[in-house]
Amino acid sequence: MPFAARALHRLLSIGGCASPGRVRLVAALLLLAAVSAQAAMLDILRDGAVVRQLDGAALLRDCARAIELDDPYYEARKRFSACPLATVVEQGFGIAPDRLEGDVVFRARDGYAKVSTPARIAEEGGFVALRDLDRPEGFAPFGRGATDPGPFYVVWMKPSQRDTHRYPWPYQLAAIEVTNVRARYPHTVPAGLADESPAWRGYEIYRGECMACHSVNGEGGTVGPDLNIPQSIVEYRPEAQVKAYIRNPAAFRYGAMPSHEHLSPADLDALVAYFRAMKDRKHDPRKQP
Ligand code: HEC
Repeated sequence: MPFAARALHRLLSIGGCASPGRVRLVAALLLLAAVSAQAAMLDILRDGAVVRQLDGAALLRDCARAIELDDPYYEARKRFSACPLATVVEQGFGIAPDRLEGDVVFRARDGYAKVSTPARIAEEGGFVALRDLDRPEGFAPFGRGATDPGPFYVVWMKPSQRDTHRYPWPYQLAAIEVTNVRARYPHTVPAGLADESPAWRGYEIYRGECMACHSVNGEGGTVGPDLNIPQSIVEYRPEAQVKAYIRNPAAFRYGAMPSHEHLSPADLDALVAYFRAMKDRKHDPRKQP
């Protein structure tokens, strides 16, 4: 914490002595520096374990540049100071993103955990936004909940990358993890079914679009409710209603789930096949001895 050390040194040397008031001020400064440093750390994980921490201030200094894009969350043109996602990943893991093996999971503070692939994050156009250039401090809030996307917010430059379902756009990003999602979340897969069965296709859709917010058998994101335990959504709701809800939740309640209008009837059938398969494969961590 060189800044705090310098401040401490200056404060103690100016007056020549450390009065109780000054000591309190110094303590407050140190605490402030510690808190803000902690708030701007991005954890780099391998299979659940922190292998490195990237300092937001250092990223801002080393790789940030001004970018401008149409932001789907702000629903506006935005300007950010941002580092290329590939550079951040390379600093974190020590190798270029396209050479990573496994799945890449973006973990946010609120329990959101979006699964992506090394190929996707190696694409040109991905950035980690560190500062809102239209504001002197921090980020402007967006949406009904006045969400502050900082300290780390993943954004994409190209129009073809603006789809928040297919591209990871996590805000309040806390960690980037490389892992094998199937091995990490073994109780989310429809084990024992043929590879080409609709349930496996449904699993792939769940994993790409729903796991970020919903767990199955207690494994996955925690923004929304678990979809399988204690009861599966296909046990307590009619299937037609489940499909309608997935496509347009706002027709049912003003909640936090985004709509999924892009899912075809076949996709929804596959999702339901997956949920039906999982209702016969319950594993409730809360009920384990
Ligand atoms: C960005 C987070 C998010 C994503 C992505 C998401 N959901 Fe949700 N979902 C929620 C939240 C939060 C709720 C709780 C109700 C609400 O706020 O709308 C919810 C509720 C639900 C419900 C209703 C549960 C009940 O009993 O009322 C179903 C079914 C559901 N989600 C299925 C899905 C499926 C399937 C997908 C993927 C295609 C998905 N969700 C993607 C956040 C999400």
